[in-house]
Parts: sequence; structure tokens; C-alpha cells
Amino acid sequence: MAVQLKRLLGHDNFTIYEKSDNIGGTWWHNRYPGCACDIPSHFYSFSFALKPDWTTMYPGRDELHEYFTSVAEKYNIIPHCRFNAMCLGLTWDSTRSLWVCTFQDTIGGEIYKREAPVVVSALGTLDRPFIPQIEGSDTFKGNAFHSARWDDTFKPQGKHIVVLGNGASATQFVPELVNKVGPEGTVTQFVRSAHWWTKRGNPKYSEAFKMTMNYVPFAARAYRLLLAWELETVFFSFHMNARGSKMRQAIREATYAYIENDAPPQYREMLKPDYEPGCKRRVNTATYLAVLHSPRMCLSKDRVVRIGPDHILTEAGDRYPADAVIYATGFLTQKWLHPIQIKGLEGRDLHQMWEASGGAEAYKGTVVTGFPNFLMLYGPNAATGQHSVIFHSECQINYSCRLLRKVLGGQAESIMVKPVAQQQDLMWIHEKLKGLVFNSGCQSWWMDPVTKKNTFIYPDPMYKYWFRTIFPRWSDFDIKKSQSSHFPIMTSIGVALSFGALMWSLVSLSATAQFFAESSWSVGAKWLANH
Ligand SMILES: Cc1cc2nc3c(=O)[nH]c(=O)nc-3n(C[C@H](O)[C@H](O)[C@H](O)COP(=O)(O)OP(=O)(O)OC[C@H]3O[C@@H](n4cnc5c(N)ncnc54)[C@H](O)[C@@H]3O)c2cc1C
Ligand SMILES: NC(=O)c1ccc[n+]([C@@H]2O[C@H](COP(=O)([O-])OP(=O)(O)OC[C@H]3O[C@@H](n4cnc5c(N)ncnc54)[C@H](OP(=O)(O)O)[C@@H]3O)[C@@H](O)[C@H]2O)c1
Repeated sequence: MAVQLKRLLGHDNFTIYEKSDNIGGTWWHNRYPGCACDIPSHFYSFSFALKPDWTTMYPGRDELHEYFTSVAEKYNIIPHCRFNAMCLGLTWDSTRSLWVCTFQDTIGGEIYKREAPVVVSALGTLDRPFIPQIEGSDTFKGNAFHSARWDDTFKPQGKHIVVLGNGASATQFVPELVNKVGPEGTVTQFVRSAHWWTKRGNPKYSEAFKMTMNYVPFAARAYRLLLAWELETVFFSFHMNARGSKMRQAIREATYAYIENDAPPQYREMLKPDYEPGCKRRVNTATYLAVLHSPRMCLSKDRVVRIGPDHILTEAGDRYPADAVIYATGFLTQKWLHPIQIKGLEGRDLHQMWEASGGAEAYKGTVVTGFPNFLMLYGPNAATGQHSVIFHSECQINYSCRLLRKVLGGQAESIMVKPVAQQQDLMWIHEKLKGLVFNSGCQSWWMDPVTKKNTFIYPDPMYKYWFRTIFPRWSDFDIKKSQSSHFPIMTSIGVALSFGALMWSLVSLSATAQFFAESSWSVGAKWLANH
């Protein structure tokens, strides 16, 4: 977002408030062994900052963090960052058309306020670790930490390690731990449900391939497009129709065969998922099932009910020694924007509104009625299950820049989506979700556990989301014209670092799109906005 504010709007009067001490978000916080992306790097990267020399298809966390840092440095974003600044509150001041923002210094504890006409939230959704409340956990004497807050001082050699959870994070680090505990150590993993494991290696890119990406015109673009299309085709398997069912059957057979061939017999039934493939995000691995053969590894479906100073106890009454407990138990994904208190027009509380409606919601996943000049990246119902988050974030950033053009240009004081437009968008989303696998009965982190509202998934392929975010439908917005021709110089605030950017192809389209979108006679633009 920061880069595109500069590149697309020529606007560099903004500050990024980041609660941690570095940029990179996910790729800064997650440091567990084996941490890597599972979307091909040539597509899990910015369209305006291609990297021809990715080492592998699914690079590790260090290479990803280096990449995001290099982009921030290239566009001189670091000087805009204020680190160790945790956003606690946002209150809209209608009389001055400003957000009053409250921050806390995470080191000194000092609370301070800043004002800005625009706030863009880039808080991410996989940022707030979830740790289950287990009786006695406060008495534990060993190392206890969450996968996303890895204890860098922890040495696995010779330790009895208990792991809770078996999602994508645990699947990546458990094989690494098993290889590091040595003959005296053990890894005991407690799992709740099975996942749709997909066997997948991590091909290295050859020097010839890197040179092709670097020097052959459009080669990197063409490769990106190919990867994007491959990911889009997965969406067809999400439909609860005959074609989707056939595709899911193929996935089912592949996963079951993988389990039969690679996993030890005693774990095979435990590892087989009993819900529809795709209902939860599939987990890719080349090493996890094989490592279950290790005599140092134990997998259990028993439930941990108590933690003692040096052991854990299970529901079945078994006691396991424990020098370390690692929580790979996911994130508080339904606590959207927590712990920020957000008050919009007439003191409306965003969290209360979302609670009343059974879960977070927004128009095109980006803006909420009642909250002018407030935009969210990776907002509700803006992503699909098996696609690049960078891609849809770029769509949102692109869209946000278009919405903000007038406000940041001084022609408007505020922009807010109309209630009826938001209602219609949400009706369409939730109606369409009914026909997709995500709502077929499993409990995933995309879904509110109580209301069962799916607050994450966009119910169409991502290329359609891209189309729909090219042309804002201006009739869906209330735009308050600027009172004075000398509207004060704007400051926009991003409350966290974001990965935003615009597709290269869109850069050339942006001026055209603006023209079409503002022309009420433009049938093409209206069609794109509606379909
Ligand atoms: C281990 C892991 C692997 C993943 N792999 C993939 C993958 O392969 N492909 C894919 O598409 N997606 C993947 N994801 C999803 C990933 O989160 C996104 O791809 C991407 O990182 C989201 O970027 P973001 O900037 O929106 O959020 P984040 O990267 O989560 O960044 C949010 C930032 O906001 C800051 N912040 C949060 N709250 C506050 C506050 N109150 N005040 C100030 N700052 C705050 C955080 O410190 C953080 O720096 C993965 C997620 C995890 C956890
Ligand atoms: N690039 C990658 O390969 C990669 C790597 C890591 C993460 N990610 C992204 O981050 C998301 C989150 O991944 P994650 O693995 O961190 O979290 P997750 O997918 O939410 O997995 C957490 C796991 O912990 C289990 N669990 C929760 N409480 C438990 C308890 N008390 N006892 C035992 N098990 C418990 C859950 O079981 P249930 O399934 O029964 O709820 C779930 O399997 C992924 O879906 C993906 O989008 C991607």
C-alpha cells in the first residue's frame, strides 16, 4: 500500500505504525524451522517487483523476508515506519473529518495519539496466535511457545517435545524437530482433525531458468500468468456440483494413496480426513508423513487435559514427559482487527456491529458503511482458499488507491460505502458461498465457530475479484465534497506494514479504468463492477 501510494497517487505523506520491530509481518514473526511459503514464489511476490532469481518454487522464510525488505528499501518505505507502535483505538471525528488514532509504545508503554484523514488497516489475519487454555499450563517449567513466536534460544537436542496441532505450520516444523531431537529426544504430536495432505516437493530453479526469467522479455510475466491460472483452476474443485465433486474425488484418492504409501500403518486411519477436500486449506508437504516412521515420533488423537511442571496428561489418563510444549494451534482469525477499538460515525462501534451480524463483513472486503476513509487490506471475504494472498492484497490496494484518489487529492473530505450497497454485496457473497465446499460442514479457521458465518472466503475465482476491483462503482459511495479549496495537506496512516501493489498490467489500465468508472454512461464499467 505504501509503495502504491507513492507510485500511483504520488503521495508520500503517510506513516506506517507497526507493533513489532521490523517489517515483513508473517515473514518476520514466523521463524519456526522449515517455515516457507506454499504458493509459488514467482506468484507470491509483487507484480511491480518481480524477482527473477528465486532459488526454489517455495522458498523459505529468510528468503521471503529478505525479498520484502528489499522492496521496502527500493521504494524508500522504511523512513515512513514507526516501529514498536501498537494501534489501540481509532475514533472518527465527524466535525473535522479526521481519524483520532491511539497508539501504545510497545517498549516504554507510553500511550499517544495521532490524527489523520485516512486510515488503512494492514493488520493481517494470521497475526494473533491462538493458545488453548489448558489447566496447569502456568505451572509448566520447560519451554512453551507458539509456532508463530518461536523461541530462537530453544535447543531441541535430547528434549521431549510435545506439539499441539497439525495444520500447515506443524506440518512444516515437525519433520525438522524429529531430525534434531537426536536419539534421546522425542516428539509427541497431539492432533484433533486430519488434513488434506498433498505430496509436493520444492523444485530448485536452475541458473538457466533464472537467466531466462531475467533476460527474456516477458518470460517472467508469462510464467506468473501460468502459475496464476494453475491456481485459479483449483477453484473449480470448490463447487458443490458434479464437476467439483469429480475433482474432489481425484484429490481424495491422491491424498488417501499418499497416506497409504507413505505413513506408518498405525496412523493411517487417524490421518485420513473425513470432510470434503478444500473445506479447510489443504496442506502441502514432502516430508511429514515419512517422518512419522521415526522411532522418536509419536502421533496421538488423545486430548491434552492438563499440563504439569514437566509432563502433560491426556483425557485417556496417559502421562507424557515434556521439556517443551509447542502450540501449533493456529490464530485468532475471527478476532478481526483486535484489539483495536474502532468508533465510526455517531460513535458506532465496529466490533459491536460485527458481533450483531454474526461475524466480520465489508463491502468488497475493503470498506464498511459507517466508517468513512477507513480501508482494510486482507479484509473479510476477500480471499480464496488456495491462492496468493499477495495477489488479492494487490487487488485491494489498487482499489483502495482509486477510492482514495479524491480524498488525498483534496477534492473530497470523505468517502463511505452506502449501507444498501454493502448489504447487496454481502447478500451475493453469502448466497454464493452456500454452493461452495467451504460451507460444506467442516469447522475451518475461515468460519466463526459459533455463528458458522464464513468471514474469509471470496466466493469466486480471484481473477473475477481483480476485475471487480478495477472499476469502483461510484454510485455505491457517499462522497463528501471538500468544504474548502485549500483542504489541508493530507496525512494517511497505515497502521501496519502491508504487501500492497498493483498488477503490472493494471498500471497501464488505471487511467482508463478511472475514466470509465466515472462515466455514468459506461456500460462496460458497470458490467465489470457488477459481474
Ligand atoms: C506461516 C505462514 C505461512 C503462510 N504462507 C502463505 C503462502 O504460502 N501463501 C499465501 O498466500 N499466504 C500465506 N500465508 C498468509 C500470510 O499471512 C499472508 O500471505 C501475508 O503475509 C499477509 O500479509 P499482511 O501484510 O496482510 O499481514 P501480516 O503479514 O500478518 O502483517 C500484519 C502486520 O500488522 C502488524 N500489526 C498487527 N496488529 C497491529 C496493531 N494493532 N498495531 C500495529 N501493528 C499491528 C503485525 O505486527 C504485522 O507486522 C501464510 C501465513 C503464515 C502464518
Ligand atoms: N506456506 C505454508 O505452507 C503455510 C505454513 C503455515 C501456515 N500457513 C497459513 O497459515 C494458516 C494457519 O496455519 P497453522 O498451521 O498455523 O494453523 P491452523 O491451520 O489453524 O492449524 C491449527 C491446528 O491446531 C489444531 N488445534 C487447535 N487447538 C488444538 C488443541 N487444543 N489440541 C490439538 N490440536 C489443536 C487445529 O485442529 P482443528 O483442525 O481440529 O481445528 C488445527 O489442526 C494456514 O491455513 C495457511 O493459510 C501456510
